Amino acid sequence: MKQTLLLKVNAESPDPTKIKTAAKIIKNGGLVAFPTETVYGLGADALNAAAVLALFEAKKRPLDNPPIVHVADLKEVPSLVQEVPKKAELLMKEFWPGPLTLIFKHSNIVPNITVAGLDTIAIRMPNHRVALALIKASGCPIAAPSANLAGKPSPTTAQHVFEDLNGRIDAVLDSGATNIGVESTVVDISAEPPMVLRPGGTTFEALKKVLGGVELHPFVKAEEELPLEKTRSPGMKHKHYAPKAEVILVEGNIPAVIVKVRELAKSYRLKGAKVGILATDETQNVYEANVVSSLGSRFNLAIVAQNLFRLLREVDAQNVDIIIAEGIPLEGLGLAVMNRLRKASGYCIIKAQ
Ligand code: TXA
Ligand code: MG
Repeated sequence: MKQTLLLKVNAESPDPTKIKTAAKIIKNGGLVAFPTETVYGLGADALNAAAVLALFEAKKRPLDNPPIVHVADLKEVPSLVQEVPKKAELLMKEFWPGPLTLIFKHSNIVPNITVAGLDTIAIRMPNHRVALALIKASGCPIAAPSANLAGKPSPTTAQHVFEDLNGRIDAVLDSGATNIGVESTVVDISAEPPMVLRPGGTTFEALKKVLGGVELHPFVKAEEELPLEKTRSPGMKHKHYAPKAEVILVEGNIPAVIVKVRELAKSYRLKGAKVGILATDETQNVYEANVVSSLGSRFNLAIVAQNLFRLLREVDAQNVDIIIAEGIPLEGLGLAVMNRLRKASGYCIIKAQ
């Protein structure tokens, strides 16, 4: 086991000496977890094949699921890609730095392992001072998947990173909880029409405003397991976060959802099961269960997104047998939240009416 170094830094003005320490580790082929505006990432020099292999091993991530490559400057993009399509330029201008990942055809300086043998590469510029300072000081693009063990919820605090990866990585830059709470939106602009492969921190509505034509891959709104042939993003086909407990997602209008969740909670508790409910501020007081947690107000989906992964970890840690989650609207950040909840439930979705 390695000794994992904890480097506490201020999110707004990170201490340059600590950033330098972390950057030196990256330059030497090591692994450093760092905050972004979405979730914590686990970084390695994207152009160092051995470092990227170590990254996959530390996360226990399947080798066919490539990480996102993070840059700190638009000037870094051309050397990594074959061409920058007009639409990509538009999106980068509008949304970078920010929670948007773009898929390009990659250039030949990118090691095979960094792109899992695909002819495309995922790139984003994070909107976080610590992440940007680390990339700049390292002097290389940084490959960084979310800093969790494969199959766990993405980490929104350094504490979550430690729970999963302590002793498996070299260092963690800790600047507190992340702001957005769900991962970046992944958009493929290497083909027509542009397509959202993973919903995330940049909303579909905002993308439509800029692009006009953009589609949601069927996986984004899937309400059941889809056949693998339809997969365009490797991450979609891997088993995603599934809590130890069984998860049931109840979708529909609020009065009907409340009735259904109460009914389910009651019948499971009668059978002797320990029940957790993921509710919202507006509904949490109407439920009786072993654990009732609120994701936040239904009228503030940004807060719901911010709380989602932390609460999934917390409820699961209470060893409940069943988690009943309320669906929220598929609008704005709600689309990303519902995509994660549907996957976490293994598509066990009940439509309340
Ligand atoms: O917000 C985020 O995106 C965070 C932070 C750390 O930046 N990162 C993150 O990385 O969520 P990761 O590795 O957990 O998710 C990357 C996603 C996966 O679904 C992967 O399949 C997809 O991006 N991806 C990577 N390269 C791709 C490519 N060439 N084509 C299609 N999808 C790709
Ligand atoms: Mg991930």
